[in-house]
Amino acid sequence: MRLILLGAPGAGKGTQAQFICERYDIPQISTGDMLRAAVKEGSELGLKVKEIMTTGGLVSDDIIIALVKERIAQPDCANGFLFDGFPRTIPQADAMKEGGVKIDHVLEIAVADEEIVNRLAGRRVHPASGRVYHVDHNPPKEDGKDDVTGEALVQRDDDRENTVRNRLSVYHEQTEPLVGYYQQWAQQAPEDAPRYHRVEGVGSVDDITRQVREALEG
Ligand code: AP5
Ligand code: ZN
Repeated sequence: MRLILLGAPGAGKGTQAQFICERYDIPQISTGDMLRAAVKEGSELGLKVKEIMTTGGLVSDDIIIALVKERIAQPDCANGFLFDGFPRTIPQADAMKEGGVKIDHVLEIAVADEEIVNRLAGRRVHPASGRVYHVDHNPPKEDGKDDVTGEALVQRDDDRENTVRNRLSVYHEQTEPLVGYYQQWAQQAPEDAPRYHRVEGVGSVDDITRQVREALEG
């Protein structure tokens, strides 16, 4: 299965990706996680994107498209993959379409802005694995520690309120148009286009997982 998870920052893409990737045995391709790893390593790419990510802007399409093309050529993507946080602009979506990368499903997780500000304030992550928690809604078994490794959880640099507001406005301007892009494509050429699904992303994590499964398998 090849699918795209579409949704605002904090909508729960990373959270639901964990379930989807396990169930369908496909790798999670999170451009955000890949970029954060590059920043942490201090690689040439990391140095280039650090500032943009801290302020909540978007990294240039050229860089992202090259990164993703290289990633999906790896052998573990042969049976499919899940895109989390990609595509995020029309040129990124066009690059996949023009490159003949066939996608089976686009799944939008819809959450209102105010809910998102609250969620991101309480988010904690395990950087090495990308596992995501929330201090109230999805707490780790032991305070401040990853369930699997016991390693320390951290807050992301871009989860401060001002940066979150900026990420939301960037989402509405540059990424939300993809909703119309994929819906139109599905209407005009249903045999080539991915199937489009929308789930309401408010409710318990398990509730949303159930809706996601119904959308993909129903
Ligand atoms: P990226 O890492 O993709 O961040 P994002 O899209 O802003 O999304 P988030 O990871 O913040 O949210 P999420 O939807 O995964 O939510 P999560 O599951 O963690 O990108 C970061 C940056 O990298 C960008 O700003 C940009 O600079 C750059 N970048 C990345 N990709 C790019 C691209 N393609 N082009 C250009 N630049 C790019 O959940 C959030 C919180 O809510 C957690 O605490 C979670 O536990 C909690 N939660 C989840 N579900 C629920 C629920 N149902 N109820 C209550 N709480 C919940
Ligand atoms: Zn994420």
